[in-house]
Amino acid sequence: MSSDAHIRISGVKHAYKTDAGPLPVLDGLDLEMSQGAFCAVVGPSGCGKSTLTKLLAGLLIPDEGEVILHGEPVKSPRSTVGMAFQNPVLLEWRSILDNVLLPLEIVPNKLTQKEREDRGRELLAMVGLQGFEDKKPSELSGGMRQRASLCRALVHRPEVLILDEPFGALDAFTREDLWQIMHDLRHQEAFTCLLITHDLRESIFLADEVVVLSGRPARTQHVMQVPFGVDRTLEVLYTAQATEMLHELRHQIQVAQGRVPAEREELA
Ligand SMILES: Nc1ncnc2c1ncn2[C@@H]1O[C@H](COP(=O)(O)OP(=O)(O)O)[C@@H](O)[C@H]1O
Ligand SMILES: [Mg+2]
Repeated sequence: MSSDAHIRISGVKHAYKTDAGPLPVLDGLDLEMSQGAFCAVVGPSGCGKSTLTKLLAGLLIPDEGEVILHGEPVKSPRSTVGMAFQNPVLLEWRSILDNVLLPLEIVPNKLTQKEREDRGRELLAMVGLQGFEDKKPSELSGGMRQRASLCRALVHRPEVLILDEPFGALDAFTREDLWQIMHDLRHQEAFTCLLITHDLRESIFLADEVVVLSGRPARTQHVMQVPFGVDRTLEVLYTAQATEMLHELRHQIQVAQGRVPAEREELA
C-alpha cells in the first residue's frame, strides 16, 4: 500500500445494530485511491455499498479498520466532500440556481454573492442547464434534476465526490448523456470520485478502476484496472476489449452473489 494515497480504506469492518442483533455489513474492505482517481464500486444489492459511502463521508465510523482521507482518519462529516444520490433531493421552493448554491451557504467560504452565483451558473452551463437557473425543480425532467444535483455536489469544489447510484433512476438514453457529462466534468473540475453503480457499462466508461465487492458482509473481492484513456468516448463500450471486461465483471458479480464458482469459462 502506498502511503501517499488520497483515500485509504483498510480492513474496514462495520455492523449495524438491529433488534435481531448485529448485522455485519462490511468485513475486510480495502480500497485505495490517489488524488484525482475515479473509482467505481459494484456489488450485489444490499452488500454494503451505501454503507461504504457513509463511512467515507464521515456519517458513520467503522467498528474496525481505518478510513483515511488526506492522511487523517475520517471521524465526522467534512466540507471537502460532495455527494449525489439516486434521487436528487432538490428544494421545491428554491430556484435551480439557489438549489445549486445551497452548499455555499453551509460550507465556510469567502465568496461574495456575485462570485457564488457566477460559480453556480458556470456549473449549470457545463452540464447544459444554461437558461434553467430560475426554474423550479418540478419544471425539470429527471435527467435535468440529476444534472442540477451534480452541480450542487460540486459547487464548493469538494476534494472528494461521492456518487451513490446517481444515474440509476434514469432511462437508458438520458443515462448515457449523463455519463458523457460526468466524464467531461471530470476534466474541468478537480476531484477524486467514488461512484457506486450497478451498471457495469457505466463503471468501465467512467472509472479508472472498478472494485467488485463480495456479498454481505462485503470485502474487496476483485479489482479491475480500466485501460481506456481520458479522451474515451462512448464508442469504447462497443470494443472487444470492453466486452471482455464486462464479461469478467459480470462473472465477478455472479461469484459475489454465490451463483457460480470463482473459475469462469472462457468466451467462445
Ligand atoms: N441504518 C441501518 N440499520 C440497520 N441496517 C441497515 C442500515 N442501513 C443499511 N442496513 C442494512 O445493511 C445492508 C447493507 O446496506 P447498504 O449499504 O445500503 O447496501 P447497498 O447500498 O449495497 O445496497 C442491508 O442489508 C441493509 O438493509
Ligand atoms: Mg445502496
